Amino acid sequence: MPVTLDYNGKTVFITGGGRGIGLAITTAFARAGATIIITYTSKDPKEVVSQLSEEYKVPIHVYHCPGENTERVNEVIDLASREVGEVDVVVPNAGVSLWRDCVDMSDSELDWIMKTNLYAPMTLCRGFARHWLGMSTAVKSSEDPGKPPVGEKLNLNKRILCVSSISGIVNMNPQRQVAYNVSKAGLTMACKSLAGEWAKYGITINSISPGYVATDMIKDPPPGEGREWADKWRKDTPVDRFADASEIGRMVVLMCSSESSSFMTGHDLVIDGGFTTY
Ligand SMILES: NC(=O)c1ccc[n+]([C@@H]2O[C@H](COP(=O)([O-])OP(=O)(O)OC[C@H]3O[C@@H](n4cnc5c(N)ncnc54)[C@H](OP(=O)(O)O)[C@@H]3O)[C@@H](O)[C@H]2O)c1
Repeated sequence: MPVTLDYNGKTVFITGGGRGIGLAITTAFARAGATIIITYTSKDPKEVVSQLSEEYKVPIHVYHCPGENTERVNEVIDLASREVGEVDVVVPNAGVSLWRDCVDMSDSELDWIMKTNLYAPMTLCRGFARHWLGMSTAVKSSEDPGKPPVGEKLNLNKRILCVSSISGIVNMNPQRQVAYNVSKAGLTMACKSLAGEWAKYGITINSISPGYVATDMIKDPPPGEGREWADKWRKDTPVDRFADASEIGRMVVLMCSSESSSFMTGHDLVIDGGFTTY
């Protein structure tokens, strides 16, 4: 029997789905027939995704949604669920990097990395879990956060897959990027923690940790010492190249499939051309 990945009738929500790895994830889900919702913050990807939408004959909806703006995130969860349909798969992908020695790093830089890479995916996951459980998407008061349904075990049959990084596992070199590394280690751990919390609702949550992927994120090392970074990164990758974003996109689609991943939760999948084997 051929193995097929068929997302017809499924709706997928991807943050930062219009560029880089996010666009590759959008493309892979579009090929698999999903209805897609993507968010962006700085570059409106409507033109790019309308071509994809035409090519694969799937609807792709775009929302402006800065991940650090929790109010807007909650609003978009409600809005998109109403306008497009209930979401089956959530892929918190958006992220930012910062090459900076800790001694030189300002509070606002640290805040920016943590808010975008760690808090934003966590608040997005919380918003979706609450929405799926029939609660208000926002936690309106810490004294009275609302109550999920009690009693029988639920099977919401939802999938969450966060895009983390091997930087949450090993210290990348020669660049200094402590904030990024910590944000990704935190994100991988958040997925493991939530897998335990939400298994009873039928929500699985996993992460994927790519090595170096050829996107805007790594294309401009700083002038001077940064000139040699890309050579070192490639040399430290046994397959002697960076990933193409499509290789990450296709794996994400496999990891979210209700057929192939129903018993997988709390797992972090490393996809790094062998980088972490050395
Ligand atoms: N490239 C790598 O080598 C690599 C390796 C491991 C993990 N990753 C992770 O993979 C994910 C995607 O990275 P990439 O390489 O594709 O980077 P990228 O090409 O720089 O794209 C970043 C994406 O994140 C979105 N984004 C940034 N800040 C945001 C914010 N505050 N709110 C909402 N969206 C925001 C951007 O939206 P706009 O287009 O609107 O700016 C864009 O879609 C990130 O989580 C990154 O940490 C990357």
